Amino acid sequence: MALGWIDPQDYSFNAFLLLERFQIRLMLNEGGWRNDKSEWCRSMGVALTANPAVAWYLKQRCPECAGLVDALMADAPTSSSQSEITEAEEYCLASVEDFVIYTTPERMEQQCEFIREWNPERLFELVYLVGKTVLDVGAGSGRLTFAAAKLAAWVYASEPVGTLREFMLDKIAKEGITNVKVLDGLVTALPFPDNTFDVVMSGHVVGDDWDNEIAELVRVCKPDGWLIDCRGDSPGDAPSPELLERGWEEISYTGSFGSLMHNYRKRVVK
Ligand SMILES: C[S@@+](CC[C@H](N)C(=O)[O-])C[C@H]1O[C@@H](n2cnc3c(N)ncnc32)[C@H](O)[C@@H]1O
Repeated sequence: MALGWIDPQDYSFNAFLLLERFQIRLMLNEGGWRNDKSEWCRSMGVALTANPAVAWYLKQRCPECAGLVDALMADAPTSSSQSEITEAEEYCLASVEDFVIYTTPERMEQQCEFIREWNPERLFELVYLVGKTVLDVGAGSGRLTFAAAKLAAWVYASEPVGTLREFMLDKIAKEGITNVKVLDGLVTALPFPDNTFDVVMSGHVVGDDWDNEIAELVRVCKPDGWLIDCRGDSPGDAPSPELLERGWEEISYTGSFGSLMHNYRKRVVK
């Protein structure tokens, strides 16, 4: 399903030069996960053949996928017109529009309604943050991180995409924020010891691998701490039966688009 976060015509195919290894692996192994697989493979073959520097980068950055890159290019038509190349590039950019918009965090904050229209009070009503040590998993451009930092003692923002980490670091320097630390980390491999945080929060991150992801959130949370899933505002937000089945409490409100929004929390018992 298209998210509508980018107009591919606004981006160069060189945006792929800013992808992280884990993103390249996901894209190449599951290239058709949002698209017709054969159409995606054909388009990627055409676009990579026309952009050998991007093909080189994908192979160097993610050596385990070098064979996939070679195969896509080997199967591509031997010659393509400029309009066919442009069409293939735009198709591929749109197919990973989330990865692409993460390369331009300023545009992400403007284009993504879940960030732009969100009210930080929605986080504050979920959990008491004053004086707490908080982790934001998959922090993105820092929607939850910077809201929590207004009340918490410390906020750790873990984010696996370098462009987004740098965006948060720039904001910290520019605004003189002293209680936020930014670092790398996947939700399934968080770089913290057991029982570190009073609150472990995320938004639009958990859901690809429920059991392993939630186990890792629980591991780094202190006994009696809180797990929080606080989504941003977007029209048509759907509730999460998976979290309800796992005993999370649902807190709903009417969002800025007039539709019902759903956040979740669970106290950690160890
Ligand atoms: C839709 S954005 C949401 C950003 C932020 N949490 C918010 O709600 O504003 C998803 C974020 O999850 C990050 N992400 C993607 N895969 C991840 C993973 N396996 N572990 C941790 N974070 C991940 C992305 O880099 C991105 O910053």
